Amino acid sequence: MASIICDDIVKGFGGIPVLKGISVTFEPGTITVLVGENGAGKSTLIKIIAGLETADSGDVSLDDKPLGKGDPRSAHLQGIRLVPQELAPIPDMTVYENFFIGRELRTKTGLLDRKRMIREAKELLHSFDVNIDPLTPARQLSVAMLQLVEIIKATSQGATALLLDEPTSAIPDREIEGLYKIVRHIRALGASVVYTTHKMEEIAEIADRVVVLRDGNLVSDLPASETTHDGIISAMIGRDLDDLFVSRHAPTEDIALSITGLTLKNGHPYDLSVKRGEIVGLAGLVGAGRTEFLEGVFGVRQTVAGRIEVNGTPVRRNDPAAAIKSRVALVPEDRKGAGAVLSMSILDNATLPHLASFSTAGWLRNVVRTKAIGEVMKSVNLKSRGLGQSLETLSGGNQQKVVFARWLTEDVDVLLLDEPTRGVDIGARSEIYRIITDLAATGVAVVMASSDMPEILGLAHRAIVVRDGQFVGELDSKQLARDDAQDRIFRLAAGIGLVTTTGAPSATI
Ligand SMILES: Nc1ncnc2c1ncn2[C@@H]1O[C@H](COP(=O)(O)OP(=O)(O)OP(=O)(O)O)[C@@H](O)[C@H]1O
Ligand SMILES: [Mg+2]
Repeated sequence: MASIICDDIVKGFGGIPVLKGISVTFEPGTITVLVGENGAGKSTLIKIIAGLETADSGDVSLDDKPLGKGDPRSAHLQGIRLVPQELAPIPDMTVYENFFIGRELRTKTGLLDRKRMIREAKELLHSFDVNIDPLTPARQLSVAMLQLVEIIKATSQGATALLLDEPTSAIPDREIEGLYKIVRHIRALGASVVYTTHKMEEIAEIADRVVVLRDGNLVSDLPASETTHDGIISAMIGRDLDDLFVSRHAPTEDIALSITGLTLKNGHPYDLSVKRGEIVGLAGLVGAGRTEFLEGVFGVRQTVAGRIEVNGTPVRRNDPAAAIKSRVALVPEDRKGAGAVLSMSILDNATLPHLASFSTAGWLRNVVRTKAIGEVMKSVNLKSRGLGQSLETLSGGNQQKVVFARWLTEDVDVLLLDEPTRGVDIGARSEIYRIITDLAATGVAVVMASSDMPEILGLAHRAIVVRDGQFVGELDSKQLARDDAQDRIFRLAAGIGLVTTTGAPSATI
């Protein structure tokens, strides 16, 4: 197995330097965690190694063998596997078809050997303890499942180096262990693993080495055992971080959002009321139904029964325009889908009619002034060349900030957030938490689905646990403050050990 040696890599886009001379070696049998703020250059460095971007100067070699510049095929032939930050599965294809794209198995007569591909896909998934049917269409998988499938796909083909760009950003804590297992296994086989993440807890969990980039410079490169949490953060952001969570205001007594019997197609009824100023966290495992619930409330996913009221006034179901008129906003999880149009500029995305990607209702909202948007983008510390820059050329975390921030230019009473800080760096994360807390303090009711446990514990007044399309338990602020809160949430989410005499999952814990 070989080391990946980067020698003085320089790269700019449109004259703006992004990597300013990076020299680093990624050793075989080692997991190197690459960290840095959004826009620091992590994905760019990884793409250069995989041949997807070409460095302006500097070389990448495997031991002393130079890799072709900007030649992804040759990199792939030498065993370099990149699992990108933005996944690109083909939604109309099934899981097994995605596995075998470009290397389909054929029968002797040259026909596609579906049976064998399905069987091999099944074995492969099984060997990684991933319980999905290879015949499932990719579009039916959650983002987390897609991520696991992509990683398994990448490593199934033999890897000398595995480059993982934020592999866990979409995977809830409880399910990360499965990924770690896969990654450690690949390390044991002698591959160099490069792993970017914004989750600080992961460093202690998985890193052998930690490399920090800041503004295109390598600012720290140490064995994990010689690093500290605070040391890494200050290397990343060039200063010490304030407390991640600010103190919460108590909610008012007025109900802002009241939901009774809201039922998705083939689903169970949901009841929920949220006070003005209250932040309700929705916890649960992947596929529990949190996104679907939020989409049902907002009217972009069909509901078949129930009643939604905002500030005491009924809101028509299945009608996002009605939801928006009632000052309800949804910040979706998937910035590539409902959240944003990547080919458009930051400004156009920020002024995009909410519904453009949701319906053809033709609803147009007022044009929001550039100045207001500029201010909001500044408040989330957006790293861009200006509001005219297209979203696709922003770093992943900065795209997320645009999606988040564009709703902040609205006046909303009810804010539905789906994984609001996914992929966002720790500095900006603290900004987003501050914004959410501030909005709540002005009376906005917030419902936030999150797989990030500290986020639920640190931000929410109340946590509701979702499992199998139902609310299965609730923790109030007192319970959330207790040491065992996380464990209780996990148990409820997984349905372990909380069965009451009636056989129903208990809500009192
Ligand atoms: N194709 C491109 N055109 C113009 N600028 C680009 C392009 N690709 C990346 N950039 C810029 O390069 C910088 C580094 O981006 P990169 O994606 O490497 O950051 P990152 O460290 O991976 O951030 P994140 O944590 O948000 O994923 C960003 O400022 C980004 O806007
Ligand atoms: Mg990135």
